[in-house]
Amino acid sequence: MNRYLPLAITALAILALATLFLVIAPGMQISAQGPSQGLKPYTEAEARGRAVYVSMGCLYCHSQQPRSLAQAPDAERGWGRASVAGDYAYDDPHQLGTMRTGPDLMDIGDRLPSQAWQLTHLYQPRAIASWSIMPAYPYLFEHKDKAGPDDVVVKLPAKYAPKSGVIVAKQDALDLVTYLQGMKRQYAPPKDGLRDNGYALIAEKQRDATDATTASN
Ligand code: HEC
Repeated sequence: MNRYLPLAITALAILALATLFLVIAPGMQISAQGPSQGLKPYTEAEARGRAVYVSMGCLYCHSQQPRSLAQAPDAERGWGRASVAGDYAYDDPHQLGTMRTGPDLMDIGDRLPSQAWQLTHLYQPRAIASWSIMPAYPYLFEHKDKAGPDDVVVKLPAKYAPKSGVIVAKQDALDLVTYLQGMKRQYAPPKDGLRDNGYALIAEKQRDATDATTASN
């Protein structure tokens, strides 16, 4: 009963060590990275769209972190190259996500650049894929009798089109799509970019992974 002090000191020491290695050290490593060369800051519309993405909770089903071949066959799925810390330099809070109920969206702007496609899909995913379990976001759109001159009308198959009038995108939907269209990393990853797999050089990691797959074939 008289050993409270050693117990408290041990507990605090463990906590301090954990904080040092899990919070402070990685924080310093990452902040030393800076943005990947070629990564552009968000435009105003993209930043607004990103806020919509965050508020809609898209991250609960979509990750933004394509993995290297050693971890997952993301490149074969067409989700783009493995991401490095510098790719997220302008993301606060980042939207890495852990769930992949839907595909990774880090390079969605490369894969599906069409505004019309994205708007239809957001209004009603099943208008694109009948089996989709992605929720529809009809409240990002407006039902109007007639489209105004600046309105962007959503293209819909007869099954999902309103009986009369048109569905037009609200500003939030347009911004969200602008954000998605901007999600493309058309630059090479920095050679010494930090990854989440032990801070190895990506090139080295990927070469090892390819060697391993070739060897096991
Ligand atoms: C409940 C899970 C869920 C949520 C929440 C969700 N999605 Fe999805 N998403 C999916 C699934 C499943 C698919 C694959 C089927 C499809 O294309 O509809 C998908 C597909 C997509 C695709 C096409 C990806 C591709 O490579 O084909 C985009 C773009 C997308 N979602 C964007 C969004 C955005 C933006 C949000 C937030 C407004 C969102 N999703 C919220 C589950 C979800």
